[in-house]
Amino acid sequence: MTQALAVVLAAGKGTRMKSDLPKVLHRLAGAPMLGHVLGAAGAAGIVRAALVVGPGMDAVGEAGLAVVPEAQVFVQSEQLGTADAVKAAAPAYETCAGPVLVLYGDTPLLRAETLKAVLGELEAGADLVVIGFEAADSTGYGRLLFDDKSRLQGIREEKDATPAERALTLCNSGIMAFRASATLSDLLSRIGNDNSKGEYYLTDAVALAHQDGLQTRVVLSNGEEVLGVNSRSELSVAEGLMQRRLRAAVMEHGTTLVAPDTVFLSYDTVVGRDVVIEPNVIMAPGVTIEDGAMIRGFCHLERARVGAGSTVGPFARLRPGAELAPGAHVGNFVEIKNAKVAEGAKVNHLTYIGDASIGPNANIGAGTITCNYDGFSKHRTEIGAGAFIGSNSSLVAPVKIGDGAYIGSGSVISKDVPDNALALTRARQEERDGWASKVRQRRSRDKSK
Ligand code: UD1
Ligand code: CA
Repeated sequence: MTQALAVVLAAGKGTRMKSDLPKVLHRLAGAPMLGHVLGAAGAAGIVRAALVVGPGMDAVGEAGLAVVPEAQVFVQSEQLGTADAVKAAAPAYETCAGPVLVLYGDTPLLRAETLKAVLGELEAGADLVVIGFEAADSTGYGRLLFDDKSRLQGIREEKDATPAERALTLCNSGIMAFRASATLSDLLSRIGNDNSKGEYYLTDAVALAHQDGLQTRVVLSNGEEVLGVNSRSELSVAEGLMQRRLRAAVMEHGTTLVAPDTVFLSYDTVVGRDVVIEPNVIMAPGVTIEDGAMIRGFCHLERARVGAGSTVGPFARLRPGAELAPGAHVGNFVEIKNAKVAEGAKVNHLTYIGDASIGPNANIGAGTITCNYDGFSKHRTEIGAGAFIGSNSSLVAPVKIGDGAYIGSGSVISKDVPDNALALTRARQEERDGWASKVRQRRSRDKSK
């Protein structure tokens, strides 16, 4: 179905988060909740998005535009209820030829498959579709009501429900879809606020549609994916569920997670086949691990690429712009930032490589530091193919080490080194024969006096 529109409600202040950040910008697996919702809509083929934000929530609009650049942002000036919130986006849905879906910005676990099922019902002729779920605890949710032909007849908000209605457990997730925007416009224009909260309820659209003889349907989902996040503790629950989903997806793809519960992935982590990830690894956003790579325990990676068959860690940190070619080795206590490590190069121990390129098969000794920052700006270090950097060397950038060059350990290199040369800057070694025994003899004579 082409040109579907998602209207994402995000005007709520999220008071219970106790935060200066608008609720939908709190992160889950490295992306704001709003980003997850827009991502699910996009993955379901819903191409257009309209965001409804509260006054002063420019940051929410910007976060939305970062995910969907053509999104339209509307401000609901006063929070008069979910129907009023949708109305704020009238300019978007009134120009929409396809179906309109109303989503909440604070339900980050919503899956594209469920939205596709909703689109399927609309395509099959439904006028209005509600995503419902069987609630373990239905407190606070609207209850789904059915007529004697088992057609969805209405939604009763808890505060307006009779005791019998309250006993119902099939609840409204809040997500609702309309096949035609004209239907939505018409229903919204007829919704009043004569209820216990004095709000304009979007849920009233269902009873109106049913009375009009329109086809109203329910798509069932599990309670998990429509979980709304209202507090930090609910955020942590959602994070846990999201991580479980991400871990299952990479394992399904052919990655071994030795201890899945200890590996944290981001929404966009890409992991190839036959990758092994040992315990206690964190993937911040922007990480790609190619086939057959090994990520040993206690590594932290962010905006980094690990080539096929490379090994990383234990205890390594790959920062933004770290790129390891196939077969590279990065060992323990190594930090790499904005640097390319070519095929077969080894950086195995206690090293900082920043703003650099390391040629194929180069060997970087323990304790090597690229001194990339002079207090004002960053400079580059280039290390040639097959170069050998002796342990505990400081490479003061900008500097180039030629192909096949050797750097004597403990050197401070501040000038370029030609191909195949040896450079060393440490003081020459001196020996004094027998010095130690003479000193020891003198000391023992003094003691016995
Ligand atoms: C709503 C539904 C309820 C459903 C529940 C699921 C209505 C009337 N009720 O209730 O049937 O079971 O969600 O969680 O729709 N919002 C705005 N502007 C407003 C009001 C709300 O943007 O004026 C946004 C909120 O930020 C939130 C969403 O709409 O993301 C839902 O609003 P909320 O007040 O939490 O509705 P509920 O009472 O939970
Ligand atoms: Ca709510």
